[in-house]
Amino acid sequence: MYKMLLHAHSGLRWLVLLFLVLAIATAWSNWSKKADYPAGKMPLLGLIFTHVQLVLGFILYFISPKVQFASGVMKDSMLRFYTVEHISLMLIAIVLITMGYSKAKRQTEKARGHKTIYTFYLIGLILILASIPWPFRNLGAGWF
Ligand code: HEM
Repeated sequence: MYKMLLHAHSGLRWLVLLFLVLAIATAWSNWSKKADYPAGKMPLLGLIFTHVQLVLGFILYFISPKVQFASGVMKDSMLRFYTVEHISLMLIAIVLITMGYSKAKRQTEKARGHKTIYTFYLIGLILILASIPWPFRNLGAGWF
């Protein structure tokens, strides 16, 4: 169960990144064309994949051996990363993406929704890229 969820969470990162990049790129192009918002499903797909990742992450948080609450966790960079840093930054990123999606829908001037998606999703993407345990960060995680 743990191994399966870990593989799913690890692999899903690529779909999250892909759909966030596609949502940002199409938002940029629709914004410059002054198209009415929404135009296409990319912002919604980016939101859905990010939220599925959130659910998997929450389950992992309770079963992972790399999440611990004993004293001394803050001194171990790997335990600290998964117990504190990864979850905090990812939650901020996901809240921003969710806020961007719902704010874009409520924008009165139609083309502005694309700009909202562009800004919120871009900040979210940067935070996500910064908090992924990439193999070169030596946090015990792989590429897939
Ligand atoms: C878009 C958001 C997220 C992305 C892209 C992401 C990505 C990743 C990746 C790539 C790993 C390494 C997997 C491996 O070992 O190969 C990981 C591990 C982990 N993630 Fe996330 N994550 C996200 C959000 C979250 C959230 C919100 C939580 C908690 C609520 C979470 C909890 C964890 C935990 C506990 C591990 C360590 C699992 C282990 O090795 O035992 N993740 N995450």
